Amino acid sequence: MAETVKLTFEGETYEFPLVIGTEGEKAIDISKLRQTTGLITLDPGFVNTGSCVSAITFVDGEKGILRFRGYSIEELARYSSFREVAYLLIHNVLPTHEELQNFSILLNDQSMVHEDMQHFFETFPRGSHPMGILSAMVTALKSFYPYLQSAEEEMDRTVTRLLSKVRTMAAMSYKISIGHKVTYPRPDLSYCANFLNMMFDSPVKPYHIHKELVKALNVFWILHADHEQNCSTASVRVVGSGRVNLYAAISAGIAALWGPLHGGANQAVIEMLMDIKNDRGGLSRAVKRAKDRNDPFRLMGFGHRVYKSYDPRAKILKKMVDRVFTKLKISDPLLDIAKELEEIALQDDYFIDHNLYPNVDFYSGILLRAMGIPTNMFTVMFAIGRLPGWIAQWKEDADDPKWKLSRPRQIYAGPRKRKYVAIEKR
Ligand code: ACO
Repeated sequence: MAETVKLTFEGETYEFPLVIGTEGEKAIDISKLRQTTGLITLDPGFVNTGSCVSAITFVDGEKGILRFRGYSIEELARYSSFREVAYLLIHNVLPTHEELQNFSILLNDQSMVHEDMQHFFETFPRGSHPMGILSAMVTALKSFYPYLQSAEEEMDRTVTRLLSKVRTMAAMSYKISIGHKVTYPRPDLSYCANFLNMMFDSPVKPYHIHKELVKALNVFWILHADHEQNCSTASVRVVGSGRVNLYAAISAGIAALWGPLHGGANQAVIEMLMDIKNDRGGLSRAVKRAKDRNDPFRLMGFGHRVYKSYDPRAKILKKMVDRVFTKLKISDPLLDIAKELEEIALQDDYFIDHNLYPNVDFYSGILLRAMGIPTNMFTVMFAIGRLPGWIAQWKEDADDPKWKLSRPRQIYAGPRKRKYVAIEKR
């Protein structure tokens, strides 16, 4: 007989099914809780709440394990490409040569952006944050390409359209923001090389595509490709559960990612490291402030809801930064500060007791700086990387025959019923 969990309330005992995942994690299925007991659960921040059963990504935060569709992040970062990982996340299998080729053809076919969309960029006020622009542009894609149907072929076209066009739009927005002519995608370049070329090629200064940077960008995007039910992915699923179109759901994910406690941390880390650099004694002051409960300051790029050990993505990124710096013979004072900060924090009782380790955002900005990506584009880079995950998670929900509209309950704590008072009597 299947195992159950017992709950005793007001003298009655109720039994709820125990759900066990393929890696042994256990959950109580409380879907009938309110119906049978009249109770709901209260879990601010969803610290203990599983919102779905998913077959996409596995994270073991205690052991520092991350796998996409069963494949370890270390192996994917070493042997795969972002394109292939995107295919894997969305289709659940590693592609054959032919499948990858067809996927690449679609990515190439979809890489241009409607010329009218360029006017959008031009009308945003100067200094607008690229994440706000990206979120608006992705929603706008629905108006330009409205025919999303559920047929598999149309789905593939929509998926590759998003993957390809968002990358083009990101580079385009950068070019327009600096007043340069837009560089178009090229059919002879890979997904990552194409992005770097669109960002940095200019009619007066042809861009030399460095293979080391292409490799680094592949790894950066692979590491960001999915991370189970994080804030932005949960947003995509919640918004998508209302049966909204894929573009609108992804746009919600982009908005959620923007926050400095989530994807916006990669920008915040660099800003913090800059502040430390420009301030004598800044390093120890930052550590002291992070430990002070009365100070809202946090060490950006440190800590994670799930990882209570070193984030495996940060480990790979740290090595990748060293590799790129050695191969390109470059340096960055921010890397030295970051390493020193990490060393101090990892030996400090506060960080040890709170299980605070560098997360994916701690070294990623330093890598992006080495590529020449401006700081305010960092979270856009994260968003491009997270697209396959968002799409796969949206699709998993959309294909689920047990799909349910997301609609949490609450415990009301406001005033009890009171009588309306006319304005002249208040
Ligand atoms: N610096 C100092 N103290 C921290 C930090 C930090 N970066 N992160 C957590 N803590 C402390 C909190 O002050 C709290 O201390 P207390 O229990 O003594 O009051 C304790 O650790 C738990 O913190 P919570 O905020 O409850 O933990 P939660 O799991 O909700 O937070 C979060 C996770 C938001 C990522 C947090 O660690 C943080 O703010 N980090 C900095 C921002 C950051 O790097 N975000 C990127 C995360 S990765 C991603 O989303 C892509």
